[in-house]
Amino acid sequence: MKHDLLGLKELSADQIGHILDTAASMKEIVKSPNKKTPHLQGKTVVTLFYENSTRTRLSFELAAKYMSANAANISSSGSSVAKGETLIDTAETINAMGTDILVMRHGMSGAPHLLSPLVSAAVVNAGDGMNEHPTQALLDMLTIREHKGRIEGLKVAIVGDVYHSRVVRSNIYGLTKMGAEVSVGGPATLLPMGIEKLGVKAFDNVQEAIVDADVVMGLRIQLERQKKGLFPSTREYFRFFGIDEQRLKLAKPDAIVMHPGPVNRGVELSTSVIDGERSVITDQVTSGVAVRMAVMYLLSRGGF
Ligand code: CP
Repeated sequence: MKHDLLGLKELSADQIGHILDTAASMKEIVKSPNKKTPHLQGKTVVTLFYENSTRTRLSFELAAKYMSANAANISSSGSSVAKGETLIDTAETINAMGTDILVMRHGMSGAPHLLSPLVSAAVVNAGDGMNEHPTQALLDMLTIREHKGRIEGLKVAIVGDVYHSRVVRSNIYGLTKMGAEVSVGGPATLLPMGIEKLGVKAFDNVQEAIVDADVVMGLRIQLERQKKGLFPSTREYFRFFGIDEQRLKLAKPDAIVMHPGPVNRGVELSTSVIDGERSVITDQVTSGVAVRMAVMYLLSRGGF
């Protein structure tokens, strides 16, 4: 039986802990001078991206290469997708070439779930529409655990475009399972109705969301997914919801600042916060390679 990683909704706290423990070891490899290991020797990893990406796509490719896999990438522009080939036909074609792990990003929620039963390759969700981005949340949790020593009992505030964010949904599933207390904050127009049912507190202002937080995470304002009129302008957004040095004083004095990237500087976070000593954004990127190594390695060995 093959195993996939489609979302954190389906994983238990023990399974998440196992991935994080494995990723912590992988991070030592990422930081070492010799990054070649035999963990995926003989395996083939294909990344199939229907949306733009820098961090996720490159980190999956590097993770595969560090573990000695054969790695290839295909994107919607420049492939037969642009000639009208369907997602299913494209995936079956990639599968027929001996692919062991298919990493995919798609603008439609549920796209990897659709493909999973149709291909023999393990499917890894690298972001599907507004649904989930599981490896992002795993790398966020690894970074939090390393900087704070634990996840359980921490107060994590996630602020920004909650409505369109797959990152926030995966983080809510993961962090609440691992025992964190999660608050979300943003303009009322960017807070989904009923988000509290996922076990979080929701605030239509940034101040209440981040007060006493151990972790403050900004979310990108996803202008490409939005209809106009959800907030007046990015300048207004920063004025009322942006995280700057002043607002950060509401969080705990040792709070860390995170962002999944790409950051809109001066919109979600001020430049001084992004580049400040509490920011762990660059370390999140390093954790991303380690988490993707752990996920692909565990999937090749029978799952989590
Ligand atoms: N965080 C994230 O998914 O970034 P990319 O879109 O650059 O992959």
